[in-house]
Amino acid sequence: MTDRYAVVGRPVAHSLSPKIHAAFAQATGQSLHYDALEAAAFAPAAAEFFAAGGSGLNVTVPFKGDAWEWVDERDEAAECGAVNTIVVRAGRTLGCNTDGLGLVRDLTANLGWPLSGARVLILGAGGAVRGVVPALQAAGVADMMIANRTRAKAIRLGEQFGATAGGLSETGDGWDIVLNGTAASLKGEAALVAPAVVADARCYDLFYAVDGATPFCRWAAAHGARAASDGLGMLVEQAAEAFCLWRNVRPDTADVLAALRRRE
Ligand code: ATR
Repeated sequence: MTDRYAVVGRPVAHSLSPKIHAAFAQATGQSLHYDALEAAAFAPAAAEFFAAGGSGLNVTVPFKGDAWEWVDERDEAAECGAVNTIVVRAGRTLGCNTDGLGLVRDLTANLGWPLSGARVLILGAGGAVRGVVPALQAAGVADMMIANRTRAKAIRLGEQFGATAGGLSETGDGWDIVLNGTAASLKGEAALVAPAVVADARCYDLFYAVDGATPFCRWAAAHGARAASDGLGMLVEQAAEAFCLWRNVRPDTADVLAALRRRE
């Protein structure tokens, strides 16, 4: 039987993950099936998938926290409290998090934005941010601040990870990199902070838009950002990390990312 993988989420119909993993499988000569699983609740869907012989799962919104609770064991990257990849090892489920590494690879290897010694401002304090903070710290950022609309949530996260934290009006400026991890951009709201905060900074949206420019990216570019990128590269890179965990083969990401950018 061909090994079966899937991404589970809600909604998941528009997920690009099946396309990305199919491209990786073809490029590396691996034989596998990868589906999108829409689920009302995480635990029953995951239990059914693995009971039916599934080999591995990706987990997306809103289930990364549920997946963290559900797995038998967790790797170090999943200590942040969010699991986006589940691997089966010796009959037990292992929860991993490849989002942080995916972001770091996109920023450094694809975009060429240095992280070592960088001053990084993160907007938002939800699950998306939680998943990437440890990897950014491990990449050697010099200074990191987490700023959120609900200040108390940022403070809690800052305490957990040893980062500066505050409200959206307390960020100051002079940041090398500004990451948007809020859902505001998805709702079309882009002006989260004063324009001076993004002026001359490299701005990155953890989310992506089919045309490559999210409202946050467009807003940042219009207010003097040195560069602006959406999170499509992060999506492809986190998928490559997951593929590598499952298949022990590292797929090349450049062609897949370029094809997605061309909307192929
Ligand atoms: P996820 O787990 O996907 O990150 P979440 O936990 O709902 O989703 O977090 C969404 C993030 O977007 C939060 O940081 C939220 O700010 P609050 O904690 O104040 O709710 C942020 N967010 C959502 N809409 C926003 C808006 N219009 N302006 C600013 N921040 C917003």
